[in-house]
Amino acid sequence: MTETQALDRERIRELFDLRSSYNQRMGGDFTADPYPVWHELRESGPVHEGTVHELTGYPGSAIFQGLPEPDRPHYSAFGHAALDAAYRNPEVFASSPDEVDPTGRTDVSNSMLSMAGDQHRRYRALVQPSFVPAKARWWITNWIERTVQELIDGFVADGRAELNVDFCAAIPLLTITGGFGMPPEQALEVRESLHDPMKIVQMLQPIVAARREAPRDDLISVLVEAELKEEDGGTHRLSDAEIYSFALLLLLAGSGTTWKQMGITITALLQRPELLQRVKEDRSLLRPATEEALRWMPTDPMFSRYVTRDVDFHGTRLPAGAVLHLCLGAANRDPSRWERPDEYDVTRTMRASFAFGGGPHICLGMHVARAEIATGIGALLDRLPGLRLDPAAEPPRFIGMYERGVTEIPVLFGQ
Ligand code: HEM
Repeated sequence: MTETQALDRERIRELFDLRSSYNQRMGGDFTADPYPVWHELRESGPVHEGTVHELTGYPGSAIFQGLPEPDRPHYSAFGHAALDAAYRNPEVFASSPDEVDPTGRTDVSNSMLSMAGDQHRRYRALVQPSFVPAKARWWITNWIERTVQELIDGFVADGRAELNVDFCAAIPLLTITGGFGMPPEQALEVRESLHDPMKIVQMLQPIVAARREAPRDDLISVLVEAELKEEDGGTHRLSDAEIYSFALLLLLAGSGTTWKQMGITITALLQRPELLQRVKEDRSLLRPATEEALRWMPTDPMFSRYVTRDVDFHGTRLPAGAVLHLCLGAANRDPSRWERPDEYDVTRTMRASFAFGGGPHICLGMHVARAEIATGIGALLDRLPGLRLDPAAEPPRFIGMYERGVTEIPVLFGQ
């Protein structure tokens, strides 16, 4: 048995099943289809007072970027033009209400996700070279391909599998922890500890120390060796504290999103057997199938910004200090940009969607995510003849409020 297959299946299920208690706080128990409501909201105005989940009719209290923030007024934008304007104006629509101190306590709020302007540019530039399209091969060869093949080895003889948890969930987690030089047996501990940064620090400490001694071909070595440009033109190597907040963001963003998007894409194809067959025969269709799934059903349909000064915005006066939630799920189905926006249509002319955000904070890991999805689905199509949904099992359902994905993907293959 390989290390990958030795991962504890029940622990993976508890951590990754969207209906589990671990995922409830992001609205994992939301089961309705939000898109009809989002269409109505967008049609009645591009910006509304309230949070996305309140306006959608989700009764729970959710935690996500810009939430809960009970002492601030909340607004939500639903139209494509409004989101585009907000992403392009980070001075007015900032990622954080406060100054970010990357040398402070280990927290995502002290990472580049929350930074602005020049500070954000300087920090992002340190890791950008490891995430450009030309680096996709580095990720595939070192981590993605092996993980994908070992996971399939684990169930190929069974003739059946549950692809959401037994396949999709493990791939991005093992890719990003592998990229950090962490062994597979530590991967689940990392995922479990993401809400407890000090535990992550404890795990990273020995790796950071070892890479300072002897760098390797991995991400921690990139961070250890990075030369940060200072405002006065000088440079410095990142401190341990700076590395920890950076690493926490990458572990969180790298392990939490792509598996759900992969599951959404696989489900969209399995629900359309003729299309699945076409993709199998013509692999160039895998890219539009993935991009269309990102537009049609982005796994994270909302991110938010803090309003830095009073502003008239698409017909609504937003006060300084308010939170503006950007419902990119709704904007991705704006009929002024996409015809028949509710249809999953891989033949439509591709236009950039907001699934990976927009503006200076656009997803750093999008090319890694695409490489994981392409390698994962490509390997399933290569190795599992007659791949189909199990007609006797409960069909997959799309669920979740701020973290969307599928319930389960029960499949059969072989004769
Ligand atoms: C399909 C999978 C993914 C989706 C849908 C996704 C989505 C997003 C979105 C919407 C943002 C913008 C957040 C904002 O505007 O505040 C973002 C930022 C980010 N993502 Fe991803 N992401 C994915 C995969 C990944 C992966 C695999 C990694 C790392 C390996 C990653 C790393 C990051 C980082 C570091 C940022 C912050 C960038 C910045 O602040 O400049 N993401 N992601």
